[in-house]
Amino acid sequence: MRVEPVPAIVGHVAVPGDKSISHRAVLIGAIAEGETRILGFGRSADTESTIGAVRSLGVEVLEDDVDELRVRGRGLRGLEAPAEAIDCGNAGTLMRVLAGVLAGQRGTFELVGDPSLSARPMERVAVPLRHMGAGVRTADGHAPVVVEGADLHSIDYELPVPSAQVKSAVLLAGLFADGETTVVERFPTRDHTERLLERAGATIRRRPTSVTVRRADRLVLDVVEIPGDLSSAAPLLVAALTVPGSELTVHGIGLNPRRTGLLAVLERMGARIAVYNRRQVGGEPAGDVEVRASELVGATVSASEVSALIDELPLLALAACHARGETVVRGAAELRVKESDRLAGVVEELRRIGGHVRATRDGFRVKGVPARLRGGAFDSRGDHRLAMLGAVVGVSSIDGVELEGAEAVEASFPGFFSLLGQLAA
Ligand code: S3P
Repeated sequence: MRVEPVPAIVGHVAVPGDKSISHRAVLIGAIAEGETRILGFGRSADTESTIGAVRSLGVEVLEDDVDELRVRGRGLRGLEAPAEAIDCGNAGTLMRVLAGVLAGQRGTFELVGDPSLSARPMERVAVPLRHMGAGVRTADGHAPVVVEGADLHSIDYELPVPSAQVKSAVLLAGLFADGETTVVERFPTRDHTERLLERAGATIRRRPTSVTVRRADRLVLDVVEIPGDLSSAAPLLVAALTVPGSELTVHGIGLNPRRTGLLAVLERMGARIAVYNRRQVGGEPAGDVEVRASELVGATVSASEVSALIDELPLLALAACHARGETVVRGAAELRVKESDRLAGVVEELRRIGGHVRATRDGFRVKGVPARLRGGAFDSRGDHRLAMLGAVVGVSSIDGVELEGAEAVEASFPGFFSLLGQLAA
């Protein structure tokens, strides 16, 4: 796909519902009592995999609209083991979080994924679930993951890698375990599971670096409203920041403090960002975010901040190319095990179009120049976040971009290109 430079990014838009919360609302709705109504569901290939997965487990899901679902829960232990494998597609969140739910069910469940998902590490979730008493097999650390449900016992578990997916799997398994299950995390990761479980009536105790869940008798979610996905708004916001003359407002996006690292770092870099209309949407902070094209300076991002912008680091690298001076990101080795090796992808693809970016042991460094990048060929490597990065490079560069693998955006944001097109003034 050809992405041409644009004179400015101007307008007011909304983006689809948060992907992380959408997965969780369906999965928790599946083990809740009665009907869970989900409003603002973020429909994408990944979240459709989640609908497909719970249906294969015997859960009825009614699709009232593109962004409205009703999930007819089967109660905590009511999921049925299907004869076939459960296809998680490209969705790491689905595979890892669902494994936690299945650990407490009756039966044996096989989880499979596409080639990208099948290359991602799964022992990180298998290890704690085995400690809890579930039978979990991986193929040399990868999918297929076979989960044999069991009577679980509670554990205290310190996450060896910062991962909200692993934390969520252990917490969900903790609903089925004797006693209290605690997850300790050195760096805080997104807490959407904790928030939804609290809403559903589970007993959750939270401290700054740990969270405890108690065995549950029943969950009831009722209605969940999902705010817009900051990770989907991010490419549009960074496009507006880097194309001179731009002025963009994205309405109704989730502003959970464990997700807003990109906004915090960009503000340190001098970005003109304003948040209006702060409110609560479905138990999550939300608001309208306005950005204007800005002159940026380099910044340092430490390991403790990384989780709050893990999926936005590719876009930060691009913003850093436009900033005066050096930007350093540390503690981001997790980028190597995302839908692609995002560290290699970001560094190699941005270098090809004229950026001065290099990989370090656990992150990257960028030498920025306040000018448009040259542009050229950009390969998404089948990764949705890199496809959106390539598109932003296209609109903000001198020559535009020939974007290989643009269709990867379907994983999280199917309407991305049409929305970007509407904003190109
Ligand atoms: C997610 C957690 C993060 C993030 C992913 C979504 C989630 O992954 O990168 O896109 O919904 O819990 P990790 O848990 O592997 O850090």
